[in-house]
Amino acid sequence: MVAVTINGQTTHAADGASLFDCAQGLGIQVPTSCQQQGKCKECIVEVTEGIDGLSAPAEQERHLKGNFRLSCQARVAEAGNRSLTVAALPAHPSRDREGAVGAIIRCHTMRRANMRIERHAFGLPLGRQAALDPAVTRDGERILIDGAEIARSTGPIHGIAMDLGTTTIVLRLFDLASGEQIADTSFENPQRFGGSDVMARISYDGEHRGLLMRTLAGYLTRAIEELPVDPRSIYEMVVVGNSTMRDLFFGQSVYSIGQSPYRSVTELEMAEGKRTTTSLTSTGRRCLLPIHPQARVYGAPIISGHVGADAAACMLAVDIAHEDRIIAVMDIGTNTELILGNRHRILAASCPAGPAFEGGAIACGMPALDGAIEDVTLGSDGGFHLGVIGGTAPQGICGSGLVDLMSELLDGPI
Ligand code: FES
Repeated sequence: MVAVTINGQTTHAADGASLFDCAQGLGIQVPTSCQQQGKCKECIVEVTEGIDGLSAPAEQERHLKGNFRLSCQARVAEAGNRSLTVAALPAHPSRDREGAVGAIIRCHTMRRANMRIERHAFGLPLGRQAALDPAVTRDGERILIDGAEIARSTGPIHGIAMDLGTTTIVLRLFDLASGEQIADTSFENPQRFGGSDVMARISYDGEHRGLLMRTLAGYLTRAIEELPVDPRSIYEMVVVGNSTMRDLFFGQSVYSIGQSPYRSVTELEMAEGKRTTTSLTSTGRRCLLPIHPQARVYGAPIISGHVGADAAACMLAVDIAHEDRIIAVMDIGTNTELILGNRHRILAASCPAGPAFEGGAIACGMPALDGAIEDVTLGSDGGFHLGVIGGTAPQGICGSGLVDLMSELLDGPI
């Protein structure tokens, strides 16, 4: 038997068991829409230890590099690879019932529960209370978008706001009649199998056109179906993200964003007079989502190059265009944007901060999951006091923890 740890839970699996079966046995839901046929490409796991203890990658996994596997295809291969596995795993060998050394396999799904997101912004004296003015309205039974009928229903009307990050995705569900937020959900961007930063994703999309978009659509479908409303009552979705994430979502070619002068195809078309805005508009059906098929899916305009629609949303949120004071906005993420200015002039720049937040250059970096240090305080005794998500023993440090740590190190006695 091999010890298989998935998302921190451990089971013992016999030779031939798939990681998908192991996850199911542990009660862990693995995204799938093909009944483990190797077709949907959604059941991806990242193997962090013991990959040699698995069967060789199947034909259906040719699109995956590094430590990523399809959990329905990757099987425990204890007998065939035992010596190889043990040799590859000197750090933490386990012992089976007879006391013999056994292999350990550790992996995690691309959709882990309990990802922490910030729900309450600090009370900055910035921004404005926007008047409720949704594009979607109703006239009796008629559901309208900008006055044009798209459906008939007597039920509620809902909308989703999505921040599509390179690493993390956050969805918020709103009642469009009252403006009330009903629910939110967040999960890691499953496109990580195509690389951790935007340039790697651009390159991956060039080799496997459309696969990143389809995988994301599968994960979004599951997330939307878990929201506490009928998905078909969702008539509008607004999407922001950096230029690459936004354009991949809308099925645009991202090749030009990866080449100097780093322009989205929408920017190039606007420069050629082919369009009047860099915003994108599609429908629920075309975006492969379970919301109303005629729902409007709107991608907010980008600023320029890698300064995308998420930066535009930040500017809108603090209403920098009407500010006399000079405002600085830092959207620190895998792709980071810096914005500085006021109503007279606004400057924006982008830079990758990914290595810090994905553990690329920080050995103990991790997502904002249980076990991640999110608060760091340097006490007067010189000791660190840590806040850990889930109140568990610390396993690593997430982005908020890193920002806290830097702040405390700058302020503290040196
Ligand atoms: S379950 Fe569909 S590819 Fe594995």
